[in-house]
Amino acid sequence: PASSGWPHSLYNNFIQFVVELFSTAYRTDDSKPWVLPVVKKVEKVIVHDDTLNHEYLPILGLPEFRSSASKIALGDDSPAIQENRVGAVQCLGGTGALKMGAEFLRRFYNGNNNTTTPVYVSAPTWENHNAVFANAGFEDVRPYKYWDAEKRGLDLAGFLGDLESCPAHSIFVLHACAHNPTGTDPTQEQWKQIAEVMMRRKLFVFFDSAYQGFASGNLEKDAWAIRYFVSLGFEMFCAQSFSKNFGLYNERVGNLTVVARDADNLKRIMSQMEKIVRTTWSNPPSQGARIVAITLNSPELFSEWKGNVKTMADRVLLMRAQLKAKLQALGTPGTWDHITEQIGMFSFTGLNPKQVEYMIKEKHIYLMASGRINMCGLTTKNIDYVAESIHEAVTQVQ
Ligand SMILES: Cc1ncc(COP(=O)(O)O)c(C=O)c1O
Ligand SMILES: *[C@@H]1O[C@H](CO)[C@@H](O)[C@H](O)[C@H]1NC(C)=O
Ligand SMILES: *[C@@H]1O[C@H](CO)[C@@H](O)[C@H](O)[C@H]1NC(C)=O
Ligand SMILES: *[C@@H]1O[C@H](CO)[C@@H](O)[C@H](O)[C@H]1NC(C)=O
Repeated sequence: PASSGWPHSLYNNFIQFVVELFSTAYRTDDSKPWVLPVVKKVEKVIVHDDTLNHEYLPILGLPEFRSSASKIALGDDSPAIQENRVGAVQCLGGTGALKMGAEFLRRFYNGNNNTTTPVYVSAPTWENHNAVFANAGFEDVRPYKYWDAEKRGLDLAGFLGDLESCPAHSIFVLHACAHNPTGTDPTQEQWKQIAEVMMRRKLFVFFDSAYQGFASGNLEKDAWAIRYFVSLGFEMFCAQSFSKNFGLYNERVGNLTVVARDADNLKRIMSQMEKIVRTTWSNPPSQGARIVAITLNSPELFSEWKGNVKTMADRVLLMRAQLKAKLQALGTPGTWDHITEQIGMFSFTGLNPKQVEYMIKEKHIYLMASGRINMCGLTTKNIDYVAESIHEAVTQVQ
């Protein structure tokens, strides 16, 4: 590291560290993927359970998965569930859930096959949002104001302005928590303002929940916005991914929650969903859904899983606190409070494209051109090096 006191020219001829900060997956303090201990345990249970087989699952998915007792997205006591107007489609990851929702909306929302209904995604957002909706046939995918680069936080006024001025019936994709890529979520008070306008203007809410548990370490807290919108009576979709919070990236486990006006509507929606799934992947895979369902349906395994999620969230929080402290100790120009104010896996550092290039070319620290870093790429071993490199980039490159 630069602090070793080596002559700079000499030191610069060696690659001290190669630091990968662009992925969207969790890494341990040894920069390794992590198989959650609870997942390992459940996988062994599955191997030894002779009642399980590899028959096709139903089109809409594994029943225990679709209805998991814990109901982690909406909450056990959700009136919408009690009123039988909530359905679920087991999907191929969060991406599959977004895709099934988008295909349904294009066919049946705001006039059949209406491809001109505007779909709004946050500026910036996970790049795939644009493409998933465009490929489902929507011709008008637009950004809504979200990130204020100047203050490195939420542009609430801009966001509310877009909600007020968009065409009626527009579809809005909202990140349920731990916004990718900015790490900036609305506060509960701000969500209330957003919901008020969306309700008044009859806009369609499509939540994307890819990081439940990662924002705060607490599942309930991270589902607050979803539950609040449901409590107001919105008809909506919620695409839920288990890739991150179960570490099941390659098993493709997702769930599309459908909240309908009433039980009758739900039945109609689910029957159309079945047709869309049938022509897309026929029936979903079982292994990942089994792992999730077994875990969520056992109080013991459920609490063990919550501990595993907290382990991941806590490591991210620790890296945030340390990175901010180190930059402040170095006297790096600018304010760095946003590092700890932002939540979830990602941080928008505020580094400009030239500074990012410096980090990559000179420091072998790989991050997104937008300045987004995955906090899990930081470890107790490389964090000094990364902080010193950010300091150099900020002080030497304008
Ligand atoms: C905001 C957001 N939505 C959805 C997904 C997709 O998740 P999955 O891997 O489960 O398809 C991701 C993955 O990075 C994401 O960041
Ligand atoms: C899938 O969504 C449904 C509807 O919201 C919910 O009842 C169920 O618990 C979800 N499944 C999982 C595994 O979270
Ligand atoms: C399609 O959507 C646009 C935009 O919301 C709307 O103006 C138009 O009336 C819709 N068309 C039909 C046939 O409903
Ligand atoms: C949508 O358009 C296709 C092709 O024009 C048509 O076959 C289909 O029936 C339409 N669906 C609905 C719900 O109107």
